[in-house]
Amino acid sequence: MKRNQQQHSLVPHPAKLKLLDGRFKLPTSLFVTVDPIFIPVYTTARLQFHKAGLNLEQSTQQPQLILHQDPSLVHEAYTMSITPDLINLYAGNPPGMFHGLQTLCQLVLSCSSSSQMEIPCMDIHDRPEFTWRGCMLDCSRHFHTVSFIKKLLDTMALHHLNIFHWHLTDDQGWRLPIPGYPELTEIGAWRIDSRQTWQGKIGGYYERQEIDEIVQYALERQITVVPEVDLPGHTSALLAALPRFGCTGGPYKVEDRFGIFDDVLCAGNPELDSFLDALFDTLAECFPGPYVHIGGDEVPTTRWESCPRCATAVANLKLPAPTALQSAFTQRLSQHLSKRGKTAVGWDEILDGNDAGGISKDTIVMSWRGKEGGTRAAQQGLRFVMSPQDGGSYLNFKHLPDPDEPGHLDVTTIEQCIHAQVIPEGLPKALHPLILGGQANLWCELIRNGRIAEYMLFPRLCLLAEAFWTPDHTRSKNPIRERLEGLGNRLDRLGICRYRETFIP
Ligand code: ACM
Ligand code: ZN
Repeated sequence: MKRNQQQHSLVPHPAKLKLLDGRFKLPTSLFVTVDPIFIPVYTTARLQFHKAGLNLEQSTQQPQLILHQDPSLVHEAYTMSITPDLINLYAGNPPGMFHGLQTLCQLVLSCSSSSQMEIPCMDIHDRPEFTWRGCMLDCSRHFHTVSFIKKLLDTMALHHLNIFHWHLTDDQGWRLPIPGYPELTEIGAWRIDSRQTWQGKIGGYYERQEIDEIVQYALERQITVVPEVDLPGHTSALLAALPRFGCTGGPYKVEDRFGIFDDVLCAGNPELDSFLDALFDTLAECFPGPYVHIGGDEVPTTRWESCPRCATAVANLKLPAPTALQSAFTQRLSQHLSKRGKTAVGWDEILDGNDAGGISKDTIVMSWRGKEGGTRAAQQGLRFVMSPQDGGSYLNFKHLPDPDEPGHLDVTTIEQCIHAQVIPEGLPKALHPLILGGQANLWCELIRNGRIAEYMLFPRLCLLAEAFWTPDHTRSKNPIRERLEGLGNRLDRLGICRYRETFIP
């Protein structure tokens, strides 16, 4: 094993790291001098260090850690020098300083509490390879608690992930209160599922104050929340609450099965725009980030093809066929967003039927059916995020092809995550600026609670975080396998229920 691998197990690996002789002994309380612009990130990080067993105290006298501003460092970049007596951290802006503090927090977490608390001396120059480093949590198929979401945000932050994609609506539950439409949370948030309770009703929704709490918690950890309302398909819960928005008028039910359902939003209902106004007003009010995910995946056109109101919409919009209503829907939703200064993100189906380039040029495409969605987006001049189900991004897939493993549909191995590549193979260099980054997705049809979610997420999410953060030449020189044990030990210290690799003979 190489010397440096013995001495640190940072994940993601910093872009540049040089180990130096000597060690810094951690005191019980660490005195810190903080440049005033970094007080807010210091205050948040202090809580994380406390959980890692180290007390930070602000002091200008004999500091052992100094947080300096260095305006020459770019957005999110930091440098850190650890010597036996002093740690200097430099960043140009608060996100950069926050990342530096997370790296230091990993080093603290790596000290075994039973042995002497010391960290190796080193010089780090670090910055992310990609700007979008995401994790999606499906809170519709199963409702997840605020406390689990906060634990996830903390663990994301520790690994420099910066986008929390919050899947709030789907066939199996609507989780977002919209003023004027109480049925969405009275009816759409609950389903009959007698496999899980005697009474048979499960679900829930987030109160406005809980949404604010999550957004604020994420913001303090330099994470942008990207809410998703999945439209116009995957809308059984919405239709159960508001049947007038379907082509047939119902009745509909909040689904207990998973799959793809024919009932989708009717494209020809004149009342739909006032609902969309209320929906996007709420999203714009609750979520200060620049993006809203509008879904767009897996939309059957069966109902549109036999609906007279949809036929009128097809004629009015001069569309070639009802199937073209998908891209017309995307345009309509992104217009609602751009009026509110927001950018639309959609699953790669939004490219289907868009060869003429009708969808707005600032739309972001999330490539999930494979890697082709990214390449197709780039060919149409659109920015994109890679979360290919065959490229290690689907963490609801089992860890192993083993009937005893939780998860479903397919397998995403540790090896696949270790070798995940954000840039689609063969993409011409000139199109690389359109790549925003990568994302892990956790669909929760079978993930009933936070503990199982953790088992699916960890350590795979951390391995993907390295693919999103660390440049390839550094990844290939510093195999992550040699840092897996250290990563696992840190996750254990944080009380995370993780998958442990099993040897299959
Ligand atoms: C998806 O997995 N349906 C985006
Ligand atoms: Zn219709």
